[in-house]
Amino acid sequence: MFNLERTFVAVKPDGVKRGLTGEVIRRFEEKGYKVIALKMLNVSKEQAQAHYAEHAGKPFYERLVKYIQSGPIAAMVLEGHHAIAGARHLMGKTDPIEAEVGTIRADFGLVKEYNIVHGSDSAESAQREIDIYFKPEELCGGWNNMAELVIERLQENEQLKG
Ligand SMILES: Nc1ncnc2c1ncn2[C@@H]1O[C@H](COP(=O)(O)OP(=O)(O)O)[C@@H](O)[C@H]1O
Ligand SMILES: [Mg+2]
Repeated sequence: MFNLERTFVAVKPDGVKRGLTGEVIRRFEEKGYKVIALKMLNVSKEQAQAHYAEHAGKPFYERLVKYIQSGPIAAMVLEGHHAIAGARHLMGKTDPIEAEVGTIRADFGLVKEYNIVHGSDSAESAQREIDIYFKPEELCGGWNNMAELVIERLQENEQLKG
């Protein structure tokens, strides 16, 4: 039943400086996603350019690369059922003005440039971004969280009754 995916999520420097690291992680954890890797780091120029390679040449690219290096980020890998689209749903649209109330960007962001959080937008991006920031041995998978255990137990109960 589970469509297990891994996604790269980061609290960007503005989110860290605003003291929102815990709040952002809390939202993903409460949803039911597993944090299987987590670290603070100062993004290098090489990492920044690799991360945002798809935006190279756009008017905001240079500022974007500087912004992600403007302070530490809290980088993490989340795992869970449809975690890639699900994490972006919790984050909200890129521009906090357009993001739905209740999403991270709507609730905490003010301007499009500085929107608190990053999340991968596809399976390919997720794998590429995880590889930019984490070594394979830093990913701590192979366990079930409470959300998964509860859903599995519910399914078992249904099978016993059926
Ligand atoms: N028009 C823009 N002007 C300034 N910054 C932008 C603009 N569009 C995007 N950005 C910044 O670049 C990041 C990457 O853009 P994009 O991949 O389009 O959005 P998302 O982060 O929602 O996937 C955004 O999160 C935002 O910080
Ligand atoms: Mg993007």
